[in-house]
Amino acid sequence: MKLFGVFLIMVKAMASHNYGDALTKSLLFFEGQRSGKLPPNQRVTWRKDSALHDGLEFGVDLVGGYYDAGDNVKFNFPMAFTTTMLSWSVLEFGKDMGPDLPYAIDSIRWATDYLLKATSVPGFVFAQVGDPYADHVCWERPEDMDTPRTPYAVSKKFPGSEVSAEIAAALAASSIIFKALDRGYSARLLKRARMVFEFADTYRGSYNESVGAWVCPFYCSYSGYEDELIWGAAWLFKATKAANYWNYITKNGIQSYSDGSFAEFGWDTKHAGINVLISKFMMSGNNYSNFINYADKLVCSVLPESPSVSVSYSPGGLLFKPGGSNMQHSTALSFLLLLYSRYLNQSKRLLHCGNVVASSSRLVQVAKGQVDYILGSNPLGMSYMVGYGSKFPQRIHHRASSLPSMADHPQRIACSNGHPYFESNNPNPNLLIGAVVGGPDNKDSYEDSRVDFVHSEPTTYINAPLVGLLAYFKSHPS
Ligand SMILES: *[C@@H]1O[C@H](CO)[C@@H](O)[C@H](O)[C@H]1NC(C)=O
Ligand SMILES: *[C@@H]1O[C@H](CO)[C@@H](O)[C@H](O)[C@H]1NC(C)=O
Ligand SMILES: *[C@@H]1O[C@H](CO)[C@@H](O)[C@H](O)[C@H]1NC(C)=O
Repeated sequence: MKLFGVFLIMVKAMASHNYGDALTKSLLFFEGQRSGKLPPNQRVTWRKDSALHDGLEFGVDLVGGYYDAGDNVKFNFPMAFTTTMLSWSVLEFGKDMGPDLPYAIDSIRWATDYLLKATSVPGFVFAQVGDPYADHVCWERPEDMDTPRTPYAVSKKFPGSEVSAEIAAALAASSIIFKALDRGYSARLLKRARMVFEFADTYRGSYNESVGAWVCPFYCSYSGYEDELIWGAAWLFKATKAANYWNYITKNGIQSYSDGSFAEFGWDTKHAGINVLISKFMMSGNNYSNFINYADKLVCSVLPESPSVSVSYSPGGLLFKPGGSNMQHSTALSFLLLLYSRYLNQSKRLLHCGNVVASSSRLVQVAKGQVDYILGSNPLGMSYMVGYGSKFPQRIHHRASSLPSMADHPQRIACSNGHPYFESNNPNPNLLIGAVVGGPDNKDSYEDSRVDFVHSEPTTYINAPLVGLLAYFKSHPS
């Protein structure tokens, strides 16, 4: 706790950050992750068209969407979660985004156009495109890819409720964004969301088993699919206000947790997000429930001075949870803290963690501490966002960024011919601006090594909640 006090003083002493600049960059990152035919207004111009035939040999158009991280596979489970979080960011903080709002909306539409394709065949939901083993063996630009672009689908007989329900959540959340912008598109998204949710709920099972080794160990569903079903229903309730979704939530929602999973939130586990999202509906109905109870517990498990804190903090103040790509926890939990601070403020509740008061402004401060750490307020004085600040990661684990661009090297670089670039000590030739990497270790040190993917790989689900956080701090800098 002593260390935390030191950290606060340190942050105060540092220059404040340019949150607007970071927001712009956080969105550019999504352009760098685009798969498919790039649009005329593409700003990340060193990237070119790629994977233009995805699905076509199987008679279905699966062109588009995002590569999840530093490889070239389209993993629809984390992609859908990314889309839900981008949508949530815009729903809550779109008004703070200024000129970046249209780009944030584009980042959502790039995903939803693809998710509509992935759910266009009734009775099937595409869970992934690209053979992950073949892809991971190669160090290849997406523009050069020659590995099998196999599509993997779940069906009635081989279900995948987590991937399907997360896609339903993404489609429902995004439908709210497009309501005022493009009514027809919004209606299509919502109609599809209802259909896909129905499919996920009726044909229950984990895609772990149905698609097996093609999705797991890459994006295994460790936490099962029950959380995605509630999460999907919660977003459908938000989009429709229909009683059947509310009944579904109250009937199936988890009433008590036997483990610490109420504090988990990420592409696999939705519990904390569910409780925060539903708390808002509850507060506006002015009633108290287990959802609020567990959202409170989440806050108390994250607040550093709380007696029931369950996450850890590095000496420099970065939030840590077990598992790889740690920055995803920092951004996702900070996003929930920021939202919950607003709900607490609006409902004028004072939350206590034991004898510690968790005030609304304290929650904002903790979330801001995480964002500031990412942007450079840390012992190394480096930003973990590529292209932001004067010192940032140079050797991110990312195929497109680390190989020469198509403009500089138009000839094909075959699968294994990319390995010298992977192993080289040189900085990446293409700046993937806005990419936030997995981050330092829990002693605040960072090697900046391409090989060390746990720390040096960016992912779309690190950035998606960060987009909302940056928008908020852009308009509330102090
Ligand atoms: C999915 O597979 C992982 C790894 O084998 C396992 O830990 C997890 O429990 C499985 N999930 C489900 C829902 O079966
Ligand atoms: C709680 O709030 C929800 C959402 O506003 C409402 O639908 C529900 O009926 C309320 N429950 C009680 C017990 O008041
Ligand atoms: C709480 O709400 C009030 C009134 O809307 C606002 O002025 C204040 O800034 C809010 N505080 C926080 C910490 O959000």
